[in-house]
Amino acid sequence: MGASGPSPRGSAARASLLGAALAAPSLLLGRSSGSASEAFSLAASPATHSAPAVVASSARPSTGSRFSLQRSTAPLAVQAPASEGLLFGSGCALGLAAVALRAARRATRSGRRHGRAARAAVSAPLVANNVAGLDGPKMRVVVFGGTGYIGRAAVLELAARGHSVIVCTRSQSGMGSKQSVGDVEASFEGMGDVTVVNADVSEEASIASFLRSMDPPVQGAVCCLASRSGGREDSFKIDHAATVNCMKACRDSGLQHFVLLSAVCVQRPILAFQEAKLLAEAFLREESEKMAFSIVQPTAYFKSLLGQVKGVAGGAPFVMFGDGTEVRCKPISEQDLASFMADCFWDPSKRNVTLPIGGPGRALSFKEQGELLFSLVGREPNYICVPYSVFDFVQGILDFIAGLFPSQSDLAEYGRIGRYYAEQSMLVLDPKTGKYSEELTPSYGRTDLRAFMTEVLEDSSKLDAQKLGDQGLGARVGMGD
Ligand SMILES: NC(=O)c1ccc[n+]([C@@H]2O[C@H](COP(=O)([O-])OP(=O)(O)OC[C@H]3O[C@@H](n4cnc5c(N)ncnc54)[C@H](OP(=O)(O)O)[C@@H]3O)[C@@H](O)[C@H]2O)c1
Repeated sequence: MGASGPSPRGSAARASLLGAALAAPSLLLGRSSGSASEAFSLAASPATHSAPAVVASSARPSTGSRFSLQRSTAPLAVQAPASEGLLFGSGCALGLAAVALRAARRATRSGRRHGRAARAAVSAPLVANNVAGLDGPKMRVVVFGGTGYIGRAAVLELAARGHSVIVCTRSQSGMGSKQSVGDVEASFEGMGDVTVVNADVSEEASIASFLRSMDPPVQGAVCCLASRSGGREDSFKIDHAATVNCMKACRDSGLQHFVLLSAVCVQRPILAFQEAKLLAEAFLREESEKMAFSIVQPTAYFKSLLGQVKGVAGGAPFVMFGDGTEVRCKPISEQDLASFMADCFWDPSKRNVTLPIGGPGRALSFKEQGELLFSLVGREPNYICVPYSVFDFVQGILDFIAGLFPSQSDLAEYGRIGRYYAEQSMLVLDPKTGKYSEELTPSYGRTDLRAFMTEVLEDSSKLDAQKLGDQGLGARVGMGD
């Protein structure tokens, strides 16, 4: 890439190449931020909700017990905060990285512009997705990780169904830790009965303290906590230790039902975050006599599959691994997954079980995702096939660097993550054959990938709301935000 910058077409091609090379590793770790779900529309829903808007704040430190509640009379409307971060997933090809980071930085700048536009433009009524139409007595539910991509969708879904929702957040949250508690409160303003509390999930006592202070008490929990980086140490700190802290504090407070967001990929665990999630799952199952549970294992999120949309729309080829036919997934939208998790509280069949779940429609291979994208943008398919052997080469380099510099050991983990999602389908494994099975992967929801891609091609603010954030390559190597 010259100093004067590439042609738009060349830039799109590089961005697309990077997107494909890096999109696979982002699966299951596609950690975005609070921005990720702000811009979505909840319009296609059967029910409306007009509960009074309550936004509460806690000015206390993690060990205190003083809260201040502020009632908001703002109208029910979505206000999207800044959209930040890079478009693409974790690194798997060092040779691409230098070229790609420049393209990604441009994408980030463009993302900020789009984010500002989205903030000004997005305003949707608060409407429950409630796909199954399930509901029950109004409850008080705490959401851990409510500032994340799925967590925010869960907060909005529960609030739109008329429940009282507590969002537990740290002092600085979101992509790049840029949101204050006040920003989080503002992002939920007008979104129903949502109360924001500041507590430290790394300390069980901090969670226990705020749960004790809740009157009426909290009855249910949804935990969407996840390491934003996917690094080894952080995964055990968040996906395991902090998650178990939440479980213990909830159990001891007498909470009735704990819904844990996990991932379908834990069925073939190789990566640190998968081991961490399995430990948390095991703890929750062991506690089932004291607290009911639902363990939700989604397939892939849309944000993890959209890295090439802008590139292909701009004229670039679609990049895929092998011949693009071996690895498939049945992705689920954040609103549909949020609806599924909310159903867990009221559907007896979802109690004390592990629930793998994908979205509607059939499983799509990388190549079919490319075909879909080309048909939607009205272009002849044009593919670049990256051989799987690239991963051996890249992993060798990453392992070498990690060996030389222990502080960079997560680089090797990111390489393994990349390889995992390039090689493994996001579907349920058939225990009899040991192969991934589309038939055994349950479907739920109303939005399939075609419908979603059509929407984002028409309205780029929806694409901006699907950023990978700290999961992106730039953020991981310290060059993004
Ligand atoms: N991407 C996929 O395709 C896919 C598919 C299936 C399953 N999954 C799984 O889904 C889960 C959620 O993904 P997501 O995209 O919603 O994640 P996300 O957007 O990155 O959200 C992570 C949440 O955890 C919180 N968190 C992280 N570190 C924290 C810390 N030290 N202290 C307090 N809170 C912390 C974040 O809070 P802050 O805002 O404060 O950082 C945020 O609310 C993950 O476990 C992922 O593995 C992903």
